[in-house]
Amino acid sequence: MTLDHDPSDLLPLVDDYRSNQCFVHPQTCRWSCGNQCAHPAPNESRNDYFGDVARRYISRRRLLGFGALAAGMLVVGRQGVFGAETARAQSGGSSSGLTFTPVRLDDTDRIIVPPGYKSEILIRWGDPLFLEPATGFDIDAQTAEKQARQFGYNCDYLGFIPLAPNRALLIANHEYTNPELMFRGYDDKNPTKEQVDVELQAHGVSVVHIERHPTRGWRYTLGAWHNRRITGTTPMRFTGPAAGHPWMRTSEDPSGYTVLGTLNNCAAGITPWGTVMTCEENFHQYFANNDKVADKEKQAVHKRYGFPGGASERKWERYHKRFDLAQEPNEGFRFGWVVEFDPLDPGSLPRKHTALGRFKHEATSTVIAKDGRAVVYMGDDERFEYVYRFVSDGRYDPNNREANMRLMESGTLFVAKFNDDGTGRWLPLVAGQGPLTAANGFPTQAEVCINTRRAADLVGATRMDRPEDIEVHPQSGVVYAVMTNNSQRGTSGKPGVDAANPRPQNRHGHIIEIIPDGDHAAATFRWRFLMICGDPAKDKGTYFAGFDQSLVSPISSPDNITFDRRGNLWISTDGQTSSFKKNDGVYAVPVSGPERGYNRQFLSAVPGAECASLIFSDNDDTLFVSIQHPAEGTTLENASSRFPDGKEPRPAVIFIRKEDGGTIGS
Ligand code: FEO
Ligand code: CA
Ligand code: CA
Repeated sequence: MTLDHDPSDLLPLVDDYRSNQCFVHPQTCRWSCGNQCAHPAPNESRNDYFGDVARRYISRRRLLGFGALAAGMLVVGRQGVFGAETARAQSGGSSSGLTFTPVRLDDTDRIIVPPGYKSEILIRWGDPLFLEPATGFDIDAQTAEKQARQFGYNCDYLGFIPLAPNRALLIANHEYTNPELMFRGYDDKNPTKEQVDVELQAHGVSVVHIERHPTRGWRYTLGAWHNRRITGTTPMRFTGPAAGHPWMRTSEDPSGYTVLGTLNNCAAGITPWGTVMTCEENFHQYFANNDKVADKEKQAVHKRYGFPGGASERKWERYHKRFDLAQEPNEGFRFGWVVEFDPLDPGSLPRKHTALGRFKHEATSTVIAKDGRAVVYMGDDERFEYVYRFVSDGRYDPNNREANMRLMESGTLFVAKFNDDGTGRWLPLVAGQGPLTAANGFPTQAEVCINTRRAADLVGATRMDRPEDIEVHPQSGVVYAVMTNNSQRGTSGKPGVDAANPRPQNRHGHIIEIIPDGDHAAATFRWRFLMICGDPAKDKGTYFAGFDQSLVSPISSPDNITFDRRGNLWISTDGQTSSFKKNDGVYAVPVSGPERGYNRQFLSAVPGAECASLIFSDNDDTLFVSIQHPAEGTTLENASSRFPDGKEPRPAVIFIRKEDGGTIGS
């Protein structure tokens, strides 16, 4: 198979894109990513920005004949090896099973799903999780104590862990807070201590027991034993090479082994041993005064991660000195990690695993290599940052969960190099190897873990268009990596297009397929595009795996992804309110067979919201979707959305079922 669209055609389109301004809504930028686009991308390295690589790439791929890729798909997946289902998925002849009538882009304040489907609310910000004391939600009487016992704000990642027929745990990340939508008359110049403390408790993660009733669908279980809140103050400990390092020590934790809380938890992943690995993304925004850090080496590392000089937007440093880098220069090093916890044990201590590196972690996707080692795929979601992989030292033992829960404590971190001929290599980030010398600031592996971005710069990794979710196909083993967008690609003074990021001012994003060379632990891989997103009716630069573009639904800013049991890819978006001036949505696209690339919109969300995450129930009769920050960009007094109850906007998890109870997508 050859590509029917030549991405080199994209190059003249540079003049069609109007500005290099951040195009996401200003409030989204402010609270979600801490205005990343408003300051220069912190990656000033010179890695990989060959101007005309796209042309070379396409011509070489035609010579290589990439039809071989489909036949070469792996048979190693999330649970190890797949049998008949894999063969069926690889035959290319099976139907996708997707027969729903697509919905259209919309801008009204209602959830829209295809005919024959219905959406319902499962849980909202502020809903109580515990019985005693009662913590019913009253937006005008909110306290930090109540919030610590309620569902948090801005539900992002969703995980589904079946416990028994019709019983499961729902995992939800609470990525960030929108105080102007949480507090009436919020004064961003003078937040109160009570407001700041409510926000600290509104961050983190919720574990919620849910039950399926025969007729009423899913309900969450108030007071269930498994229910748990992890917040911005929950104690946790460090593992791995950087634990206890002098740069990890603070006045409150002279050991460098313990920390309070997890912040800006974006996406996550469920490991094969049933733990959750949740990811700290835009942690820089909670800290102030990097310009006053006395140690210039520390200040430079903080700058590489985007820590601001002066006051932070949130101003938490006024009430909690650990967020003031001038007073606690090391506290910033204690965020930006992958956090593992056991959802089956509400009393367990979460652990921040330093071996997996420190960057703006988007998500984790964990699979088992042929030799039993655990392999974790991860993205660093900022413009021109990198795709990573971790390979554990130890081996997965299906009969020893306790041992598996230590696999993330030691291993090798790699960063991806995408070559322009459709091949790629995982470059090891190991102190003492190549440029990672003491002279370059890496005397031990601890420094590699703390300053991972700089290590990746030095080894020559490929600078990507904001790596968001990365997931492994459960049947084929192909790795799907989402690049959400990058408005600065190819603009003045910024890296130009390259083979894996072929569109200048990439406003709509793209999805890459990574095909490991025989095993997830292999040193090399091949890669190709599944999608280059946008509206084909208006944008010649789109690509949908060769499928007839006149039939597909327009899509922009893909963010999180999951697979249904038939192997179709489902995508949630974060950015269409700006790029299309329409609401974000959920899409489904087959990745194999005759409908490969046939992208169809399944759901339209509400104004100001992103569809932050999506996950299927164990039998695919329910799709859970998180509706994050409805009405973002407005205020509580003048909200653009009244989702979900026609009153104050509240982030919520919804679930969608067929009215006849059938499989989602059919
Ligand atoms: Fe929180 Fe990268 O999305
Ligand atoms: Ca995301
Ligand atoms: Ca997002």
